[in-house]
Amino acid sequence: MLQVVIIGSGNVAQHLIRSFSTNAEVQLKQVFARQPEGLLHLLPADKITGSYNEIVDADIYIIAVSDDAISEVSAQLKFDNRLVVHTSGSAALEAISNQNRRGVFYPLQTFSKNKAVDFTAIPICIESEFDEDLSTLKNLGYTLTKNVYDINSAQRRALHIAAVFVNNFTNHLYSIGYDLCKENEIPFDILKPLILETADKINTLTPLEAQTGPAVRNDINTIQRHLDKLNDENQKDIYTLLTKSIQKAHEQKL
Ligand SMILES: NC(=O)c1ccc[n+]([C@@H]2O[C@H](COP(=O)([O-])OP(=O)(O)OC[C@H]3O[C@@H](n4cnc5c(N)ncnc54)[C@H](OP(=O)(O)O)[C@@H]3O)[C@@H](O)[C@H]2O)c1
Repeated sequence: MLQVVIIGSGNVAQHLIRSFSTNAEVQLKQVFARQPEGLLHLLPADKITGSYNEIVDADIYIIAVSDDAISEVSAQLKFDNRLVVHTSGSAALEAISNQNRRGVFYPLQTFSKNKAVDFTAIPICIESEFDEDLSTLKNLGYTLTKNVYDINSAQRRALHIAAVFVNNFTNHLYSIGYDLCKENEIPFDILKPLILETADKINTLTPLEAQTGPAVRNDINTIQRHLDKLNDENQKDIYTLLTKSIQKAHEQKL
């Protein structure tokens, strides 16, 4: 059975705690949190510590703290030559102090504390300095999901940017759609089947093949009418930039 210690108490830490607590192949030995009381709804008090001096022995230490705190937190660990990983899509493996054997255990999903997730559907990207540690991380990943990928640091950085485009930017575009609906007294619900169908299409088509709309059709009059109707300069800029990007992608690739 793999023995795990989690460091952190935020979104990712809490989802890992929930998942490992009911995982027959993993023993969640302890969690370190700066504010231990914030985890009492998930764990008994004797499994939580707020002191680096009290962290117990384990096979894997998972640092699930803000990207910028990974270095500082890893440097505070009072042991060496153990397997210590972070969960970040963008932080380098080297963000972890080299007093320990370093690795990455990055779950590629958006996590919020109060929104349940199904780990079996989440890809986990792993990286390590040593083959033996990679296989330990693989085993840990497979206790959660079938989708475990060896991804090196350069690939992970690119993947994280790709994830920002398909997740964060897309969501921001939903937000613009939401505002336009609100301004015009239209319920946002009317757009939800379109949003879901657009996401579903990429299960069977490439994104390039799935593209529709005035930009790819080069409907210049429609594009101009849309730009005339938009009052917000920021929305006009985004519309123009994305229209040009779609047209360029299709000129080059079709
Ligand atoms: N959320 C996601 O969707 C997601 C997805 C994949 C990967 N990740 C990665 O997972 C990691 C954690 O993200 P998150 O969303 O769980 O973050 P979060 O909810 O903002 O939680 C951050 C955690 O870091 C702790 N922390 C911050 N500075 C610290 C310090 N100096 N010393 C000790 N602890 C410190 C916080 O402790 P306090 O509560 O005491 O402030 C908190 O427990 C990040 O590397 C992130 O890139 C996040």
